[in-house]
Amino acid sequence: MIEFKPMTRNIGAEVTGVDLRKPLSEDEVHTIRQGWLKHKVLFFRDQNINDEEHAQFALRFGDLNIPAFNKDQSSAIHRLDQVDPKGEGGDEWHSDNTFEPEPPMGSLLRCLVIPSVGGDTMWANACMAYEALSPPIQRLCDELTAMHDITGSMRKAISKGHKYDLAEMQAKWPPYERPVVRVHPETGMKSLFVNRASTTRLVGLSDRENEALLPYLIDHIRSPEFQVRLTWRPGTMAFWDNRSTQHYAVADYTERRVMHRVTIAAFDQHKA
Ligand code: SIN
Repeated sequence: MIEFKPMTRNIGAEVTGVDLRKPLSEDEVHTIRQGWLKHKVLFFRDQNINDEEHAQFALRFGDLNIPAFNKDQSSAIHRLDQVDPKGEGGDEWHSDNTFEPEPPMGSLLRCLVIPSVGGDTMWANACMAYEALSPPIQRLCDELTAMHDITGSMRKAISKGHKYDLAEMQAKWPPYERPVVRVHPETGMKSLFVNRASTTRLVGLSDRENEALLPYLIDHIRSPEFQVRLTWRPGTMAFWDNRSTQHYAVADYTERRVMHRVTIAAFDQHKA
């Protein structure tokens, strides 16, 4: 039987009773989806699956998305093989690719090699971040939009030695304006949808208002009460909802760390 053991009061649950090497029934997929919407990030331990099984599991929840950062644009598997540089932008609180008009719905990250110490990942509940704002600030945020831009995260990756063509990326993904508060298409819950990696400006506010308010909203996600932290083991997989969470890859390690990630394209209600 599939069971969810909450890891904190507000976000994250470990899932037991599922073997991802075996095909899942529709009922099992439905149960996992409900648990995922509730807990926002799920952790599956001791799943010694391969890339194909990883992608097949992701496909039960939606179409696959090939992210901008994938150097191999023909594969849905994004390989993170890191010692130095490490972090590469993942070491900023973010929701994946919010500079895209339709950012991915979810991501599944699987651990293959982990340093003897360090290399954890953290997630934060962005719905709780919205709910924790006082009602007047919530009302202000409800009305605001913000610009999201690939430039900052791209520059950071390039500065760490990655070979990306900044101009090409900027032409492909020009700055995109989106609401500061996102309404989740499946749960109806509101989340605070600004992040340090990509959000550059609150639209319609003066420079000084931006200087005061935007850092506050971006840093609000850092409250420990909203967060869960995972210490990986090879065979652990995390499956998170990009619409209601942000995550942070803790870049504190000095040994090799290898992770494979698959992302799921924007929500399609016919696949839910
Ligand atoms: C990511 O930002 O998706 C990477 C997370 C990690 O490497 O822990």
